Amino acid sequence: MHGVVNQAIEGLILEKYGNEAWDEIRIASDCQDTTFYNNQNYSDSVTYALAINASKILNIELNDLLFEFGKYWVLTIAQEKYSVLLRSVGNNLNEFLIQLPNFHSRVMLYYPNIIPPEFKVTAIDDHKIHLFYYSKRPGLQPFVAGILEGLKVFFESTCIITHIESGSESEYHKSLFEIVF
Ligand code: HEM
Repeated sequence: MHGVVNQAIEGLILEKYGNEAWDEIRIASDCQDTTFYNNQNYSDSVTYALAINASKILNIELNDLLFEFGKYWVLTIAQEKYSVLLRSVGNNLNEFLIQLPNFHSRVMLYYPNIIPPEFKVTAIDDHKIHLFYYSKRPGLQPFVAGILEGLKVFFESTCIITHIESGSESEYHKSLFEIVF
């Protein structure tokens, strides 16, 4: 994945668990880079290795760590670096999520060579939407759940977010979330 994602994993570990933990995780992941660059793509195996080794070394369930990383991505990284981008898409969470299917095309103006996730939104009624997440990458549904939780805080929403189901459709891993406003 793009260097900004690996940089964010590094940032979370350094901030919450310290230098020693980060070095141990990096070395266990056979990761020679001591710095990730924000103009470079890395193999997905680097990102998965960092997450899996962090889970083992910190003794945190992988899904819980990915959820925590999703919240950190919004409430630290995006809040500091991309808050204008987030707010340009919507004034509240409902407006933002309706635009989410197009969001990474905007992101690609900054980072053109990424393989972004795909989203589809269906309005069930005035207060309820269904958000479908599709990716060829496995296992990232808790990361999405953490991002949604972070967005809820960012947009000061009182909505209820429920993960309804996960499965697969041809080569895509798919999850459905229900958001009630
Ligand atoms: C705040 C602004 C955001 C930026 C700058 C951003 C940027 C990126 C980048 C660079 C990647 C790596 C893709 C690659 O290297 O191929 C990525 C992946 C991803 N992004 Fe975003 N993103 C943002 C917001 C969001 C939001 C709001 C969501 C909603 C859930 C989201 C969901 C994901 C997911 C799930 C992935 C993992 C890749 C996958 O599932 O295949 N991102 N994003």
